[in-house]
Amino acid sequence: MQKITIKNILTRKGKEPITCLTAYSKVTAEILDRHCDIILVGDSVGMTMYGMKTTKEVKIDTMMLHGKAVKKFVKRSLVVFDMPYKTYTNKFIAYKNAKKVLKTTRCDAIKLEGGKKVINIIRYLVKKNIPVMGHVGLLPQYSNNFKLKGKNLFQRKKILEDAISLSDAGVFAIVIECVVENLAKEITNTVPVPTIGIGASKYCDGQILVIDDIIGLSNFHPRFVKKYFNVKIGIEKAVKKYCEDVKKRKFPSLQHVYKLHKR
Ligand code: KIV
Repeated sequence: MQKITIKNILTRKGKEPITCLTAYSKVTAEILDRHCDIILVGDSVGMTMYGMKTTKEVKIDTMMLHGKAVKKFVKRSLVVFDMPYKTYTNKFIAYKNAKKVLKTTRCDAIKLEGGKKVINIIRYLVKKNIPVMGHVGLLPQYSNNFKLKGKNLFQRKKILEDAISLSDAGVFAIVIECVVENLAKEITNTVPVPTIGIGASKYCDGQILVIDDIIGLSNFHPRFVKKYFNVKIGIEKAVKKYCEDVKKRKFPSLQHVYKLHKR
């Protein structure tokens, strides 16, 4: 089994689409590792696992626990750690935090949100050998709603310029979130690094979604999410049956009981 490297990801530009999903814990990480090129320990953990309203509430120590749990059980995929809100406010703070994160979790790279505003930070991190994934379009850490981006010329120009600046600064891939199709296409055709879309059409070099959204564990139903399964129904069924069995004294049955065998 060959470990996927950043070099591998870079060579996928314009080729076979890059598959990415988020993971926050052991079991999911093990499953994703068999299928995905990139696993993102996303700050979406705030909403999926802690019921927070936005990603802004997520703390770096919480993220590091999840980063460690995921990375420990991944052998093949590239694991990217999402830097939480306010952990990269200037290049020195960003470097200090990124170094600590990569040392503690052993993740392969970090992701941070923003365009031109974070260019100096990204340049500095890359110079210090920290692999960085960029993120443009809708930026959950800086946005109060989940509105589509790139609907007018001003926004389109800004987002395209952001993506070009990120690529010039040395990111190895760029997440494009929630933008109109032709903007995603233009970005993908312009930047030399792979683009990973979420709500950004098929005109990207790869796709990412939040794992909870595709397996029916969340109540998030935007247009760009496809639900492949409903895990909640299975859990509900098992829990209901277990409670019925306990009440009727059907569980534990003989096969679940330890008996002392007389010799
Ligand atoms: O935190 C996250 O899950 C993300 C992806 C949706 C790109 O940033």
